[in-house]
Amino acid sequence: MKLFEIAISDRTSEFLNENIKDINSIDAANAIMAEECGIQAFFSSINELQELKESLNGNGLTSNRNQAEYGDYQTNSPLADKIVDKLRIKGIDPEVMIEPTFGEGNFIVAAIKRFENLRAVYGVEIYKSYVWQAKFNILDLFISDASLNKPKIYLHHENVFDFNFKNVAEKIKPEKLLILGNPPWVTSSQLGALDSVNLPAKSNFKNHKGLDAITGKGNFDIAEYITMMMMDNFKSHNGNLVFLIKNSVVKNIIHDQRNRNYTISNIQTHSVDTKKEFNASVESCVFMCELNTSPSYVCDEFNFYSDDTPKNIFGWHKDKFVANISKYIETEDFDGMSRLVWRQGIKHDCSAIMELEESNGALINGNYESLELEEALVYGFLKSSDLKNKIVNDCRKYTIVTQTKVGEQTSYIASKYPKTYQYLSTNKTFFDKRKSSIYVGKPDYSIFGIGDYSFKPYKVSISGLYKKSEFTLVLPKDGKPLMLDDTCYFIGFDTLEYAVYTLVLLNHKKTQAFLNSITFLDAKRAFTKNSLMRLDLSKIAKNIPLEEVEREALNISKEHKLELNTGRWDNYQYTLQDSPLFAFS
Ligand SMILES: C[S@@+](CC[C@H](N)C(=O)[O-])C[C@H]1O[C@@H](n2cnc3c(N)ncnc32)[C@H](O)[C@@H]1O
Repeated sequence: MKLFEIAISDRTSEFLNENIKDINSIDAANAIMAEECGIQAFFSSINELQELKESLNGNGLTSNRNQAEYGDYQTNSPLADKIVDKLRIKGIDPEVMIEPTFGEGNFIVAAIKRFENLRAVYGVEIYKSYVWQAKFNILDLFISDASLNKPKIYLHHENVFDFNFKNVAEKIKPEKLLILGNPPWVTSSQLGALDSVNLPAKSNFKNHKGLDAITGKGNFDIAEYITMMMMDNFKSHNGNLVFLIKNSVVKNIIHDQRNRNYTISNIQTHSVDTKKEFNASVESCVFMCELNTSPSYVCDEFNFYSDDTPKNIFGWHKDKFVANISKYIETEDFDGMSRLVWRQGIKHDCSAIMELEESNGALINGNYESLELEEALVYGFLKSSDLKNKIVNDCRKYTIVTQTKVGEQTSYIASKYPKTYQYLSTNKTFFDKRKSSIYVGKPDYSIFGIGDYSFKPYKVSISGLYKKSEFTLVLPKDGKPLMLDDTCYFIGFDTLEYAVYTLVLLNHKKTQAFLNSITFLDAKRAFTKNSLMRLDLSKIAKNIPLEEVEREALNISKEHKLELNTGRWDNYQYTLQDSPLFAFS
């Protein structure tokens, strides 16, 4: 049958009908429930008792809510059981368990079934229907097996951000603790877009200000916040924290560990099949650590279903944060500071008007309008998906480059390029609708990611979004440099030879091994300006034998019919080492 729109088993329904239906005192009803299933204050008010009784008579309650807003991905029972089994194999045997956002309560049920020394369980959940569901699931468990160990269970219908965990911490001090759960899968910026208030009061908890907030670094994951909350409140308790969370959250936790120095160690992740378990398209894992120990700064990665030994270790090695510590140790000589500046491509946030394609000799915009523009400001435009090959000298798309540097006035377009101006001004509303605050107070039709470097004829580039670590050489088309979009990074060169040498060095297997050792492939942007700036080309150029570089440069030259003068290596190397900083860009 259904109670509060929740399916409950026949035996639970029978139990409630037999034992609760005719009870009118909340204390009497709560005593019966505590005796049967350990849940303390099963009914938090006489109204709740009344509601349940009415629901037993068939007047069920309904409720609706937005799954996204609450990061709602319930852990299925078989997975919760398997996670608890794994903990038992590891010798984890808690006396107290805390589930900070317990949902339907599958972790609580799994823990009660398997941890015989559990004395108390504390849980918090914001969604009333889940609180009922969890209560019925626990009740059903004890009805089915009365011999199970029965901890005292405190289930709070509250917002986790308001709940007083300090009180719990004080009460349970000497006992072995397990914090087990699956906090919401949602970020502060997703909540912002939903106009949600499901956020902690001090939501800028990483203290990002100004530009960082604008560029999105101020964005954080609610699960990360809850993990930190638990580590803060229970830092001097013996036990373990085990959370199902996104891999990106674990990466942030380990990254920030260098400054935060949480007293956690034996840090592990066990990756799960998120598509199968949660029907979600992110990478997630079971994150585990020991509490109240000396801080550790690395994380051992396992596969949840198969591995007994770690397949990788990531985290801090000396003062560097790396994705694969053993690979990094083999190539760490390449780590440094690039003298050439990696640049991000053009950002315009107006694809309907700014991204053009050629059809039968005419340019068409995203609104399928055929355009007549002067050629001067129209450039070939490459996106991440165009950087599949080693060399690119053609394009599918075009864009209008309205400025030569950020913030430049655009009024010149009206007099010099009247057709282009006519097109832009007719579509001004599309530009005015751009949401990002970077455009506020800037000249009309402004773009970002533009400078001298954009107009360099030769570019060595990589997509930030794709997982492919090989670099692409971008050549001019019809004598005009090709532009890249803001999902790509590049270094611009005036000299073809320097661009080819750079391409060869970056695609060399040693450089690739180094780049992969510092790259987290499961991040939204696998390659970032920060990671690329760590490729120290002068060290790389010294390490890779000249014959290898020349051989590969000649191969490229032959294969792609480039007119390459390979005698420029010495000058190139000299420039890499001794030129003023950021010589080519
Ligand atoms: C990813 S689900 C996991 C639920 C449960 N821990 C499990 O493993 O199945 C996250 C849960 O957090 C709850 N939640 C979201 N925001 C919350 C808040 N501010 N306070 C308490 N619970 C919240 C949701 O209702 C949902 O049940």
